Amino acid sequence: MQSEFVARWTDGKRLVFVGDGDAISVCVSYLKSREVLEYGPSKVMVLDFDERIVNAVKRFADKERLENLDARLYNVLDALPDDLVDFDCFYTNPPWGQYNNGLSINLFVDRGMEAVSLSGEGLVVIADDRELPWPQEVLAQVQRHAAESGFYVARMQPELHLYHLDDAPDLRSCNLLFRSRPGNSTERVSKPVTDKLRLENFYGRTKAPKVRYIRELKSLNYGQAHDTEYKLELLEGLHERDS
Ligand SMILES: C[S@@+](CC[C@H](N)C(=O)[O-])C[C@H]1O[C@@H](n2cnc3c(N)ncnc32)[C@H](O)[C@@H]1O
Repeated sequence: MQSEFVARWTDGKRLVFVGDGDAISVCVSYLKSREVLEYGPSKVMVLDFDERIVNAVKRFADKERLENLDARLYNVLDALPDDLVDFDCFYTNPPWGQYNNGLSINLFVDRGMEAVSLSGEGLVVIADDRELPWPQEVLAQVQRHAAESGFYVARMQPELHLYHLDDAPDLRSCNLLFRSRPGNSTERVSKPVTDKLRLENFYGRTKAPKVRYIRELKSLNYGQAHDTEYKLELLEGLHERDS
């Protein structure tokens, strides 16, 4: 359902994902290439600090010949590279900011807005639960922050998803779709974030970022379980004959 919505929303457009643990990028590209969907983005780029995700996207794109799908290793704490500012739309499902009043979300959204040069649209998957105060406060903070950058809420699909998170199994999330105001100024230089105060609860209570990249340890046979994960217990007798 989410992939179909994203494919329709970005039909013929250039789409960047700021983090994509859910692999919506791969789903949208693949469903179009297999003609399950007749529409979808013209170009898809995944930015993530986890090299396992980046390489998995690249390997899948290569294996399935998805020329419009690519991925790049990138940490949102760093300034956005200059060659990543020509997208029409961005998508992000950031760390939900329960203990930082949405600061973590605003940073992911900032990088999305920079990637569309502050002129375009963005879909933010964000916690949405009227039973709990913090998601409502974070929603307000994120909308205020986006408005300060010249974006307004063009659409919201409330309480749409359930993530069955270990620590919040019933927490719902929504699709919050932002659009830039006509003639929104595009003059903004992307800067790295180093201000400790802003980062102290980035990934949760007292969980400040410590990792620049999660590097993938090369495994020989992609698509196969790593040798360290299993041991074959061979059938007696048959073994000799084989060898
Ligand atoms: C962490 S998940 C968040 C999922 C869900 N919203 C949550 O709160 O559990 C989002 C994606 O962002 C990526 N990510 C996390 N921190 C990042 C960073 N500093 N820079 C770039 N990508 C990051 C993760 O690898 C993952 O693919």
